[in-house]
Amino acid sequence: MTERISVIGIGFVGLCTAVGFASKDYTVVASTHNAGNAASINKGVLHFYEPGLQEPLLNAVKSNHLKCVLTREEAVLNTDITFIAVGTPSQPDGSIDLQYMKNSAIEIGKALNKKRTYHLVVVKSTVVPGTTEKLVKPLLEEHSNKQCGHDFGLCMSPEFLREGSALYDTLHPDRIVIGEHDKKSGDLLTTLFKNFYSEETPPIVRTNLPTAELIKYANNSFLATKISFINTIANICEKIPGVDVTNIAKGIGLDRRINPRFLRAGLGYGGSCFPKDVKALNAISLQLGYASPMLQAIQEVNENQTKRAVEKVKMKLTELKGKKIAILGLSFKENTDDMREARSIPVINQLLEEGANIIAYDPVAIPNAKSIFKDRINYASSSIDCLKDADCCIIVTGWNEFKKLTPENFAQNMKQPILIDGRRIYNPEEYSKKVKFAAIGLG
Ligand code: UDX
Repeated sequence: MTERISVIGIGFVGLCTAVGFASKDYTVVASTHNAGNAASINKGVLHFYEPGLQEPLLNAVKSNHLKCVLTREEAVLNTDITFIAVGTPSQPDGSIDLQYMKNSAIEIGKALNKKRTYHLVVVKSTVVPGTTEKLVKPLLEEHSNKQCGHDFGLCMSPEFLREGSALYDTLHPDRIVIGEHDKKSGDLLTTLFKNFYSEETPPIVRTNLPTAELIKYANNSFLATKISFINTIANICEKIPGVDVTNIAKGIGLDRRINPRFLRAGLGYGGSCFPKDVKALNAISLQLGYASPMLQAIQEVNENQTKRAVEKVKMKLTELKGKKIAILGLSFKENTDDMREARSIPVINQLLEEGANIIAYDPVAIPNAKSIFKDRINYASSSIDCLKDADCCIIVTGWNEFKKLTPENFAQNMKQPILIDGRRIYNPEEYSKKVKFAAIGLG
């Protein structure tokens, strides 16, 4: 039997799950309460920027393997397995907002009440340990009037995709984590994934529900730790003339116990996951009575990276008031228009506070950035346009397009060719000859 799949929520995780299954000929029903987004999906049009997802989405819709509906009930009643992939945004105290998860569990529960056959529910959203067992399960049981582990199954299987390569990551994961409420649920999901990935099935780690939930936080917090660690080393490098953090990263990255990935020093991590997940893990830890110095330090190092970059600008220009600063890159990383927790936000805010005038350019994120900075900054139509008459330029996002800029581009267009490489995309030797060059982690 080929299971029919429903997916609740059509953000990065939900839509990649839906398109992934549809691309392998499963019948998939996605669901959202947003009528505009549903209409867009049903036309095969992506409602956010993500390279490599548009075409597979259109193929999935055209071939009738994917459709999007407006009610959880319709999605659940017409399928066998439901993945919940709704957002779990951060609250001011660092804990996560579970309202979408709660509403989904209630609506799925009500739909299960109308179903005669066994159904498997899989939580994919990032949720704190205990949520699936203590929140999702009771709501499903209460509203379905059925018993979990008997009438329906329940698993928690976190997603590790990166924006910018989201569908690729969904189709080629390093491993699959399955947290299971009971053996039958876990067996069913294992079989689904084995059929889906066939000979490319990665290692599958089967655990209980809270372990799977914690694996996701531990995973992202570990990657954030690597970034804050290399940024700490970068800050030490800056104090030692002739030492460059990129060489240190190379030197340690070749140790297979460390590996070279996530050792790029710079302005720090942003995005919809790392900041939120480290904060949430810290909040969970505190709640459990353990104040982790490490989780706090990871965040502190990250926050300080942007302040240090602004200090570098100040050192070069002495006075920021009235100076024109060019910002290259607004999104939280390259290949996305996502502005969530983008490092451009604290950088620009700090520069504005000091009285600087900002002109910014990003290949795709300007529309999203406009809703944050409004008319407090100016927007350029190209990187060269952005550099015109600027007193200083900061590379905030490592877009490929910026890597192609030559030292002459800076020297010839800027009023003062002061360049701060916040993402370490340029060769210091080459650029230092023609511009006043400073970079994170360069002694
Ligand atoms: C991340 C995780 O990688 C993914 O597994 C999880 O499911 C969601 O969160 P994403 O936020 O899309 O994915 O981006 P990622 O490529 O991990 O980068 C996150 C941030 O760290 C970006 O701001 C990036 O610029 C920064 N980063 C990354 C560094 O500063 N240095 C690095 O070496 C790597």
